[in-house]
Amino acid sequence: MNLIELIGRFHPILVHLPIGIFVLVIVMDGLTRFEKFAYLSTSIRLILGIGILSAILSLVTGYTLSLEGSNNQDLVNNHQWTAIGTTALFTAYFFLRKKLMAKRLAHTYTLLLLLTMLAWTGHQGGSLTHGEGFLTEGIGETQTTTETQLNIKDINQAVVYKDLVQYTLNQKCVQCHGSEKQKGKLRLDDIGWIKAGGKNGNLINTLNPANGELIKRILLDDIDEHHMPPKEKTQLTAAELVIFQWWINAGASFDKSVAAMTPDAKVIKALASFKEENQKQVKAPIKTREPIEPLDEKRQEKLEKMGWVVSQVASDDNHIRLTGYNIEISLKEALALAAENSEHVIELKLSFSALQDNDLNNLSKFKNLEKLWLDHTGIADNALKQVTALNNIEYLNIVGTKATASGIKNLMNLPKLNMIYVQGTKITAEERLALESTKSNAKLYFGDSMKSVITDTLFTKKAE
Ligand code: HEC
Repeated sequence: MNLIELIGRFHPILVHLPIGIFVLVIVMDGLTRFEKFAYLSTSIRLILGIGILSAILSLVTGYTLSLEGSNNQDLVNNHQWTAIGTTALFTAYFFLRKKLMAKRLAHTYTLLLLLTMLAWTGHQGGSLTHGEGFLTEGIGETQTTTETQLNIKDINQAVVYKDLVQYTLNQKCVQCHGSEKQKGKLRLDDIGWIKAGGKNGNLINTLNPANGELIKRILLDDIDEHHMPPKEKTQLTAAELVIFQWWINAGASFDKSVAAMTPDAKVIKALASFKEENQKQVKAPIKTREPIEPLDEKRQEKLEKMGWVVSQVASDDNHIRLTGYNIEISLKEALALAAENSEHVIELKLSFSALQDNDLNNLSKFKNLEKLWLDHTGIADNALKQVTALNNIEYLNIVGTKATASGIKNLMNLPKLNMIYVQGTKITAEERLALESTKSNAKLYFGDSMKSVITDTLFTKKAE
């Protein structure tokens, strides 16, 4: 870790200072309204000043931390700007407080505004460390009902939009773009909403179909953060991609039948496999984990004391993710303790930590592990050797490490591993080709932009 990174790491600790101080200021300021507490007024300016200084320090460390990058850059940007705004407001208040005190109502509103901004900034920061919706998850959740039975008697008579496009949208997009959630201010559950578009306007570009937001998002390389559906979700099948492109290029009609749109050979092929591919995906066994009792509170405390961030993987699943971002003792020791809870741990995140190649001796004990992040650490092939013991691993991130092709090769036979993120490792282009041609479920993801282009080769892709 270099100095800049180290400075950034202080942010999560430091932010509590301005938050605490500002809350104190607001409370004290409110109390000065009462004669009994009027004496507090003299100290507020000093405390407020200290609060502003600590807020500026938090801004600096926060900015430094943001340089490490995040998979949630939008949230980071929003948080940054609200934090700057909040600091500016408190600074303005520092100078205008005397004047405001004279106007009781204005003063009250100002205090309320300050408190709201502070809470909002804190909430955004919390969402970044604990995940969006951390506060509200589990409240008012309902199952979205979507049509999942594909019922087409004669494919030629099927209405392309309603029977194919909307059917796919219901299955793969509406959970985030529907009545429950409107990610990107977008709904895809009905013609009207599709026509209305999202945050960035129209979804379908009639003049230049390939440039429409909908098709662009779908065709983006699947590791691009703007790719839809997000990479962890069920992806569109090859046939679905062909049909979407066909539909959009032909003008995105909402009522034309298949026959009326005169499909060419490629589309006919896609239509023929549409149902089969789709059903295969639907029938693919939904992950069933053995239910498990919640982690014992004392054990959780012990982990947290050591610096582990412990979070439940889902509101209805007591398995946990451990994040080793703030661990100050040796990671080897921390992992040894964590291994005592290996039944519970299915995700282990050691990104950007001080992890070294020989720290993972206990890894094989995490026999339930499904996801593992070792990116941007000091690990190399030795650590990967430990990974080979993880028969349930599905996702591995070793971006920016010294891993080499020979280390990665040993992983390719892991039964469930299907995603390995490897950009910035020591693999050469040739080795990459060799690895990719091995018979394996595992797919290697590089950061370069191998944009998916819809060509016939899609059909020759390895069966998933
Ligand atoms: C797991 C949730 C999730 C699923 C599933 C999902 N999206 Fe999204 N989508 C998002 C989020 C979050 C954003 C906003 C962030 C962004 O712009 O990347 C977004 C944004 C978009 C946008 C941009 C809207 C705009 O105007 O900015 C489009 C278009 C889109 N999604 C299409 C789709 C399509 C098509 C599918 C299904 C094939 C899909 N999404 C599935 C979460 C999801």
